[in-house]
Amino acid sequence: MKKITDKLYQFSIYIPPIDFTIHQYLLDTDPAILFAAGTAQQAEAILPDIKKILGDKPLKYIFVSHVESDECGGISVLKKAYPDVIAICGALAARELPGYGYTGSIRMEKGGETFTDGDLKLKFVDYPSEVHLQNGILCLEENSGVFYSADIALRFGNGVGKTIRGNWKDEVSAIGAERVPNEKACAKLKEDLGAISPNLIAAGHGFCVECR
Ligand SMILES: [Fe+2]
Ligand SMILES: [Fe+2]
Repeated sequence: MKKITDKLYQFSIYIPPIDFTIHQYLLDTDPAILFAAGTAQQAEAILPDIKKILGDKPLKYIFVSHVESDECGGISVLKKAYPDVIAICGALAARELPGYGYTGSIRMEKGGETFTDGDLKLKFVDYPSEVHLQNGILCLEENSGVFYSADIALRFGNGVGKTIRGNWKDEVSAIGAERVPNEKACAKLKEDLGAISPNLIAAGHGFCVECR
């Protein structure tokens, strides 16, 4: 576990044969939110740290960008530890999460919507997420400027605890067909992302990017 900013904690595994890092992030705000559940194995592994960081405070939200094991595989493990947790996700994930054994509350969101609760001001962007161009969502927490990018701004390499400096516009224009093969959907995503300006990209894979 690495502390990235005052309230942002990163949990990671690095997989050397593919030079790939997978992260989840806990924003220790009131209420607290976890971006990505990780796989079931990862969720088990990070749970003690989450409990240590949050203390008596419950984990209120888990943000699920899209339906893939790194995003939602461990959601039932986390639900067991935090029975009142609410999954925030798009329409497709809302239908699919029960397939991961999830029986908890779901808050369905879509691009353009904003949701405020205590310290959290979450703004959502529609995300035609690979591999299957599923209807996913991405999330900017506007008070902290933290943007959970899932598979956008993905970099190979051991990014555990590492933040690089970058530029938001460059990150957005770098999104290509390998991430969103549908040209129209890719252009729309870039347009939507162009309308926000995060301070920090909390990447699902690779390196966090501090945006100038
Ligand atoms: Fe993914
Ligand atoms: Fe991913």
